[in-house]
Amino acid sequence: MRIGMLGTGIVGQTIGSRLVQLGHEVMMGSRAEANPTAITWARKEGRHASFGTFANAAAFGEIVFNCTLGSASLEALQQAGAHNLANKILIDTANPLDYSTPIWTLTVCNTDSLGEQIQRTFPDARVVKTLNTMNCNVMVDPGKLSQRTDVFVSGDDIEAKATVISILRDWFGWQSVIDLGDISTSRGVEMFVVLWQDLRTWSSSHRFNIRVVS
Ligand SMILES: NC(=O)c1ccc[n+]([C@@H]2O[C@H](COP(=O)([O-])OP(=O)(O)OC[C@H]3O[C@@H](n4cnc5c(N)ncnc54)[C@H](OP(=O)(O)O)[C@@H]3O)[C@@H](O)[C@H]2O)c1
Repeated sequence: MRIGMLGTGIVGQTIGSRLVQLGHEVMMGSRAEANPTAITWARKEGRHASFGTFANAAAFGEIVFNCTLGSASLEALQQAGAHNLANKILIDTANPLDYSTPIWTLTVCNTDSLGEQIQRTFPDARVVKTLNTMNCNVMVDPGKLSQRTDVFVSGDDIEAKATVISILRDWFGWQSVIDLGDISTSRGVEMFVVLWQDLRTWSSSHRFNIRVVS
């Protein structure tokens, strides 16, 4: 498939590289047409990888990933263009974090979430929030953990969620996907990230995840 990867950070690079390895065509998008990180990434990944603006990448993708700074995601997606996102699955991995204090805070929480803001702002996009509750190396390779763990999906579009669940299973190897419900369930998974930060400090590692047992 053709994938639009919005974001030049470690998440965009890690997911992008995994998708190229699987044989997909990935265009990495940025604010700039020729972002140095995106150029380096595309050179490393070879002929299935390319780069451009957020709008170029969104137009290119049959499916689009939002891997931009959460506090700037709405801005980045505006640059991507509502028309380039219309009717497409938009996989939102972003967390609306404010990193200005040692203990992270959220720029939106409690009664709203970034996932909901994105769906409201781009009503024709089929937003599915997922993968934001773990480090990017775990996102693309859950089998590296010592036990099976869980990934969550949130979204209003049932068919889009079913497709994303297949993607999580077939492309990344997720065997346990918990469908939390509509896009308002983005609130919980985004607010979890504050606990994730404490767990990272406690474990001195990024390589861990949640497993829900009953
Ligand atoms: N790091 C992880 O393992 C991890 C795990 C779970 C979730 N997440 C979430 O995944 C997202 C990506 O994280 P990351 O660490 O890879 O990258 P990041 O540094 O959070 O974001 C980088 C991207 O955000 C864009 N950006 C920054 N400021 C912007 C602005 N004012 N307007 C428009 N775009 C702007 C950058 O554009 P340019 O390309 O133009 O510089 C770049 O593409 C974040 O929301 C993060 O919370 C990360």
